[in-house]
Amino acid sequence: MFLPITLLVSIILSSNLVEACSCSKHEWEPFSSRKPAMSYLSNFRELNSLSFVTTHSSYSYLIKDPLLQTQDFEVRLQMKYGVRGLDVGVYSSLGSFEIYVGDTALNITFDDVLDEVNEFLNNNPWELMILMISRAHDSVRHSKNYCRVLNRYLSQQNGGRLVTKWQLNDTIGLHRGKILVASLDPAFRECAFPIRENCLVNDDQDLDQEKVAKFGAVAKWSSLARFTRIMARGTSNCYVNDVSFAYKGNLDRKTLARDAGYRQFDNSCAQPLNLDAMELFKKPRGFLVMLFDFICQKVIDTVIDANYGDSSWRSGLN
Ligand SMILES: *[C@@H]1O[C@H](CO)[C@@H](O)[C@H](O)[C@H]1NC(C)=O
Ligand SMILES: *[C@@H]1O[C@H](CO)[C@@H](O)[C@H](O)[C@H]1NC(C)=O
Repeated sequence: MFLPITLLVSIILSSNLVEACSCSKHEWEPFSSRKPAMSYLSNFRELNSLSFVTTHSSYSYLIKDPLLQTQDFEVRLQMKYGVRGLDVGVYSSLGSFEIYVGDTALNITFDDVLDEVNEFLNNNPWELMILMISRAHDSVRHSKNYCRVLNRYLSQQNGGRLVTKWQLNDTIGLHRGKILVASLDPAFRECAFPIRENCLVNDDQDLDQEKVAKFGAVAKWSSLARFTRIMARGTSNCYVNDVSFAYKGNLDRKTLARDAGYRQFDNSCAQPLNLDAMELFKKPRGFLVMLFDFICQKVIDTVIDANYGDSSWRSGLN
């Protein structure tokens, strides 16, 4: 006995559907040690012609809770692979800074951060780093102390590379081997480059929470696309584009940013936000800091290559 053709077709279709039910995780190229990313740029280039690839909550690899983690390997390696911006939350305690992610103490201090970056810059004296600093933990009440504490580090031996007073039209040559401090946090307005006063910022605060609840990461994609159009118009000479994203779904940041492999609101397979950001990426005129969760080599390379125009600086002999 023969099955009617429509039944046969529907059996084939439904078996395909079953197969399509699992979305595969995105495969990123492996990490590799990169030539120093800023060393080949002209000394006369101004900072406001550069893009900095920055890890969001750079030290969060120390936390094991997957809902709080935003990176999964050491800062030393992040810098080796080309990351040129770090983001740290600090809590002022007894006149020094401890490093926090939200309310979680990482049990390392700002001295540990300085030691690690100093070692990198000792070995790569033509590089420069951006340090995004902000208050973490329940430190909102004590904001006055924060500049006093940061300024004390400037006079310490391990703080000699910190630069708190810098301008967008400074040249690279002026700051090689330095750590340029910037902040989105008003507590650091007097002692770090004040980003909110000088730059256009795109971060999760700008998201429409109703859209996020409905569309998840697609709402973030749409805000990244909107910000890319704003940057293309050239309305500012300084931008901070924060690609990191989390929402009250059951997806951790690693899944959202790097792996995907899940079904989104319309049942199609989601794409990692880091890949979305790379597809949208267009270097603006001006200074750009881009922040990422679970950084990937392709993300690092794409942002740095734009400072050179193409990837040829990476090839050839070291
Ligand atoms: C930091 O130390 C506290 C107290 O010992 C501990 O509970 C916490 O888990 C530590 N944090 C990390 C990230 O290891
Ligand atoms: C650099 O920028 C500052 C502040 O925006 C401005 O006062 C200064 O004149 C500029 N310097 C040069 C050389 O253009």
